[in-house]
Amino acid sequence: MAVLSENQLLTGKTILITGASGGIGQITARELARRGAHIVLVCRNQERAEHTRHLIQQVSPASEPDILLCDLSLLAEVRTLAATVAQRYEKLDVLINNAGIMPGPLTITAEGHELSWVTNHLAPFLLTNLLLPQLEAAGQARIISVASEAHWLGEIEPAQTLRNAPDKYSSFTAYCDSKLANILFTNELAHRLELTGITANCLHPGVVDTGLVNPRSSRLLKLMWLLARPLMITAEKGAQTSIYLATASQVATISGRYFKNSKPARTSGTAQNRAEASRLWRISEEETAL
Ligand SMILES: NC(=O)c1ccc[n+]([C@@H]2O[C@H](COP(=O)([O-])OP(=O)(O)OC[C@H]3O[C@@H](n4cnc5c(N)ncnc54)[C@H](OP(=O)(O)O)[C@@H]3O)[C@@H](O)[C@H]2O)c1
Repeated sequence: MAVLSENQLLTGKTILITGASGGIGQITARELARRGAHIVLVCRNQERAEHTRHLIQQVSPASEPDILLCDLSLLAEVRTLAATVAQRYEKLDVLINNAGIMPGPLTITAEGHELSWVTNHLAPFLLTNLLLPQLEAAGQARIISVASEAHWLGEIEPAQTLRNAPDKYSSFTAYCDSKLANILFTNELAHRLELTGITANCLHPGVVDTGLVNPRSSRLLKLMWLLARPLMITAEKGAQTSIYLATASQVATISGRYFKNSKPARTSGTAQNRAEASRLWRISEEETAL
């Protein structure tokens, strides 16, 4: 029996990855392209997106990644992105919701959402739901969301906007809440997709030396990041669990799980709460007008 080489494994597969212009997403995109997948890079900045395409083509000269520009913090742009994907691609084999931010001072978008809530949760919620027809068309498809251990400190408030008063806002808390939402969303999605060929899983990539904490982050967070830096793993290592979930045959039928180091891992009690997952789903439907 012929053994597939690493490069042939993903031939014919189309993989869309958000936040592919840097950090974990860029390496994930590069490695999946190396294995032969057709990659769709969703980025908000043309120049950075082209840089990623260049890096990919350096290691996989035959690959021709597509670039779709989208500022995920604006749901109108997410809808346009989904419409473009529907128009251009008959099927989507893997969707990787990777883009994420650690917010700086409280920022409310032009559409009225807190920046990290919309970028980290509402955008992937909306994008995933809008792309379900393309995922279904693949027969067997995988949805992967990059969550975080930060979810242990998160909670889902009845209306996220209620606590967006500047005096109550904590960027770190907002981040933790959005990462809890990634896991609850994955659980509810997996439940809703049970009778389809689509799986939904999420992951913690490790503590990874990327641009997540940036000059806009709070002074305390920047200090913590600086101190933790010697212990951090590289983006190459941080991308491994995303790559595993996108490619491994062992997880082809596993759904609704949270992974660390390419293994199923424990989550907080809140993250496992079914009622909380359906409550989040209702809030998200309302906030995205799905
Ligand atoms: N680093 C860690 O230790 C760690 C730990 C746990 C979980 N995570 C998660 O891992 C994921 C990737 O983060 P990272 O560490 O690789 O950080 P990163 O280097 O800052 O990469 C984040 C990516 O998301 C993109 N992005 C941010 N806001 C966007 C928007 N509004 N529209 C479109 N793209 C946007 C960025 O684009 P630009 O290049 O344009 O900024 C970048 O490509 C995130 O979901 C994060 O929460 C990271």
